[in-house]
Amino acid sequence: MSTRKILVTSALPYANGAIHLGHLVEYIQTDIWVRFQKMRDNECWYVCADDTHGTPIMLRAQNEGISPEALIRRVHAEHARDFAGFHIAFDNYYTTHSDETRAFSETIYGRLKEAGLIDVRPVEQYYDPQKEMFLPDRFIKGECPKCAAKDQYGDSCEVCGAAYAPTELKNPYSAVSGATPVLKASEHYFFRLSDPRCQSFLRQWTKEDGRLQTEAANKMQEWLGHEGENKLSDWDISRDAPYFGFEIPGAPGKFFYVWLDAPIGYMGSFKNLCAKKGLDFNEFWAPESTTELYHFIGKDILYFHALFWPAELQHAGFRTPTKIFAHGFLTVDGAKMSKSRGTFITAESYLEQGLNPEWLRYYFAAKLNGTLEDIDLNLDDFAQRVNSDLVGKYINIASRAAGFIAKRFDGKLLAGHCEERFHAELPGIAAAADEIAGHYEARDYGRGLRRVMALADQINQYVDKNQPWVLAKDPAQGAKLQEVCTLLINAFRLLTIYLKPVLPKLAHRAEEFLNVAPLHWGDAGHLLPPSHLINGYEHLMQRVDPKQIAALVEANKPSLEPQTPNPSAVSPAPTSQHSEQRHAQHQQNTENKEQAQVSEWEPFISIDDFSKVDLRIARIADARHVEGAAKLIQLTLDLGTEQRNVFAGIKSAYDPATLIGRLTVMVANLAPRKMKFGVSEGMVLAASDESGEFPGLFILSPDSGAQPGMRVK
Ligand code: 2FM
Ligand code: ZN
Repeated sequence: MSTRKILVTSALPYANGAIHLGHLVEYIQTDIWVRFQKMRDNECWYVCADDTHGTPIMLRAQNEGISPEALIRRVHAEHARDFAGFHIAFDNYYTTHSDETRAFSETIYGRLKEAGLIDVRPVEQYYDPQKEMFLPDRFIKGECPKCAAKDQYGDSCEVCGAAYAPTELKNPYSAVSGATPVLKASEHYFFRLSDPRCQSFLRQWTKEDGRLQTEAANKMQEWLGHEGENKLSDWDISRDAPYFGFEIPGAPGKFFYVWLDAPIGYMGSFKNLCAKKGLDFNEFWAPESTTELYHFIGKDILYFHALFWPAELQHAGFRTPTKIFAHGFLTVDGAKMSKSRGTFITAESYLEQGLNPEWLRYYFAAKLNGTLEDIDLNLDDFAQRVNSDLVGKYINIASRAAGFIAKRFDGKLLAGHCEERFHAELPGIAAAADEIAGHYEARDYGRGLRRVMALADQINQYVDKNQPWVLAKDPAQGAKLQEVCTLLINAFRLLTIYLKPVLPKLAHRAEEFLNVAPLHWGDAGHLLPPSHLINGYEHLMQRVDPKQIAALVEANKPSLEPQTPNPSAVSPAPTSQHSEQRHAQHQQNTENKEQAQVSEWEPFISIDDFSKVDLRIARIADARHVEGAAKLIQLTLDLGTEQRNVFAGIKSAYDPATLIGRLTVMVANLAPRKMKFGVSEGMVLAASDESGEFPGLFILSPDSGAQPGMRVK
């Protein structure tokens, strides 16, 4: 059988922040896939690296009073420790601050330049005169040009959601020094994505069968527009000194933007691995390569991986990715991870609290289905699922059989071949191997694990039917007892194969107990040999104690002690989630969903939260019954500058004719909602008594003098 040659990557984490559970969704997902490929005897290499360049990292190092090199060295060690703690088995975990990545960045840039795909033109940007540096959008703050909220970032307002250019901010200031920024022009280098060669290549590439998940492919088509439409703008790939990164050849003082060299870091890490293992780099990266290349990424960085990256590779004479596998974000108990709720959990604290990393691997795997959907870590469900599936169903099989084999048969399984009995008593357990393999291959781990747990249920029913503890009491049933336990040990071994990509440590301990060499997928094709000797059973996994979860959440809550104010009086470098890199997407008008962004939650909402609701005075210009609707009245609301169609559930309380001409209050920025009778473009506010003591509905009216369109605050 010819083995596939596969190169797999996970996104490179920034070298200025800790690995947290949100990150782990991706690394665990990738690691499971890679382990599965290796168990299938494919040649599969898994590389990753720290993403080390950019302004946030440079400033973070300055704040800490160390060099960027020292910072990225320290963080590299922390990341490597955390990944090892969760059994993420990279073949190489490198850094983008490497000779290899520098060399490839220069090669790719040089080839794009030769191909006429690099442009140089001046760009006017905000400059911090005190710090003597250009400011990325996220390091400029000021008042939102739309809603006047204070302290908003230079690219978008977190209060009203408006996107804008930093120059539109009112009273801008530098988040680095506090100084008022000035506009200054400088030459920037652009990758000419608007070139017809790039556009037509990408239009084709993103549509090719299987490159992207359907949802991702649709998104790309939206970004690319139709044939003839030129929607992609050129990509600014340079940044001015001071910048921590690679200087652009022939352009003193200009550096490659971090997002230019980050994916090139995949190549750099692999090149470094080639040197260690004697692999042929070109076999994996030459344009005619027949090997497979897969990038696992979060859906927020699709733009970089599905547009910029393939276009760069294609026009610089390298192969493009076989497929890109994007996943959703992690929520905890249905909400974004939050520091104040203690759900912003770092990998380190999870391990420090003594929680088993394989519990999380199993839980994430059980929730992953190969789509871009977000996944939720429900902390109660987590404990319940792990305890019931892993301990109650899987481990239980071994613990129910092992003692009898040890005590009664000196650790020896049945002397004869038991294949026939096995397949007759436990039909389908061995035959499920192909189906489960298909689910792993498709990254639909949830479905694969549901199948495995159904098999475990079947095996436990076999235990209950045969009651080995009853057989053990009757000396005449010795042979039967040995047979039942032999079948159970074999069934346990098969489930261990099926679970091994997810639970590598547990599988290793199970292999020791079973006294077998490391299990491969193909081993599901046979059972243990006659008279096989197993080792003594030691309990393989503890149950999750819900108290441990509570302690974990508590440990991640911020201390209530007052924080020492930051002496510099301005915000420190944003965290990786707030970094300029992620926000490149804003400029491209794409979705801006930030993985695991810290959101503070309080029982009260802030004034900023409240001001997200755009309440307006509206005049009811028209009101009509809606045919076929029992509760609705159709309103035409006049906002002064525009009219809105709104369906209001107030028929029980109002005759439409009495409403016409009245002023009321509406929510003007509610997303339009498609209803059976048409689209509703807002909502009128009405009071009602939920206890039912005072029946009726009462729409709001402003005091006299209010005019349609006025904002209610
Ligand atoms: O979004 C991020 O966290 C980036 N550091 C991912 C980079 S992936 C690749 F392109 F290097
Ligand atoms: Zn705003």
